[in-house]
Amino acid sequence: MPVLAPTPANLQAIAATLRAGNLAALPTETVYGLAADATNPAAVLKIYQAKGRPRFNPLIIHVPDLATAQQYGAFNAQATALAHTYWPGPLTLVVPYNYQPSTTNQIPDLVRAGLPSVAIRVPAHSLMQAVLQQVGRPLAAPSANRSGHVSATHPGHVAADFGSDFPILNGGPCPLGLESTIIDCTTATPTLLRIGALPREAAERVLGQPLALPQGTDPASPKAPGMLLKHYAPQAPVRLNATHLEPGEALLAFGDAQKILATPNHQPPTKNLSPTADLAEAALNLFAMLRELDALHPTAIAVMPIPPTGLGEAIADRLSRAAAGR
Ligand code: TXA
Ligand code: MG
Repeated sequence: MPVLAPTPANLQAIAATLRAGNLAALPTETVYGLAADATNPAAVLKIYQAKGRPRFNPLIIHVPDLATAQQYGAFNAQATALAHTYWPGPLTLVVPYNYQPSTTNQIPDLVRAGLPSVAIRVPAHSLMQAVLQQVGRPLAAPSANRSGHVSATHPGHVAADFGSDFPILNGGPCPLGLESTIIDCTTATPTLLRIGALPREAAERVLGQPLALPQGTDPASPKAPGMLLKHYAPQAPVRLNATHLEPGEALLAFGDAQKILATPNHQPPTKNLSPTADLAEAALNLFAMLRELDALHPTAIAVMPIPPTGLGEAIADRLSRAAAGR
């Protein structure tokens, strides 16, 4: 029984598991996280081993509030403004790491992949908050999927990737369904490292200026290795902006699917991200529907066009990675 109901006894058991240096999968408002005590290198190593994750890919630490975040990172005016406006929520800030004098409460190199910065997020999910309070330490947590696979937005996805290797706290489906937006505040102009559940416009409104884009990203040592193209890939090839269907393809629709379904003379397996063309609903359904269609082993997954504005920018980003990823 790796999937645990969120009872007080189970929350205590999961907090004890984490404090003892073991892993647990936890719900957040974005996606499920595979959590470990971020101050314990042996515990963090278990995340990398479980995920099969390249060692150079650093992890986000999750803390209950901005005051705790400030123990670990140096927040300039821009980082502080973003944190005040959007924490708790789907925003990760990369800030200079505060090297601590104490040896018991440091974020080890393994979490930061040796970088002089640290990525910090204050999640909004009430169960994640409850566990953070009980553990009393920052939690390192990448998305709870095997490395390169699509993120898990449901406890069943975590179990499908990992079996019963560690407890999974059941928070039902994630309310947002896309990873956090990552903004690097160590650059003169804050840099958008990963577009996610917080739309770009929301951050730019607070900053009063456009976000910078990463400069000349070197694929061998990427600044946000989650930006590697091969991430978020299902097994099946993904074909974007489909306006017709090839034989054997499954359809990932958006809006009125009849337009495209009128063309083939067979009925393909179909999932609709949002029949009413609502981008928030599409974000919520994206990873679950990619997984469901992939499980049917189609020759490809054909995806209807999705407008790349607001949340559509993050959806388009994940889909283009899925398409490029094999
Ligand atoms: O919504 C989310 O952010 C989820 C939930 C569980 O919080 N977490 C998540 O983590 O998506 P993960 O490990 O899949 O993605 C973390 C990204 C990676 O692309 C990593 O390279 C980047 O954050 N990152 C972490 N620390 C960094 C740092 N110091 N500098 C630049 N990028 C960093
Ligand atoms: Mg991930």
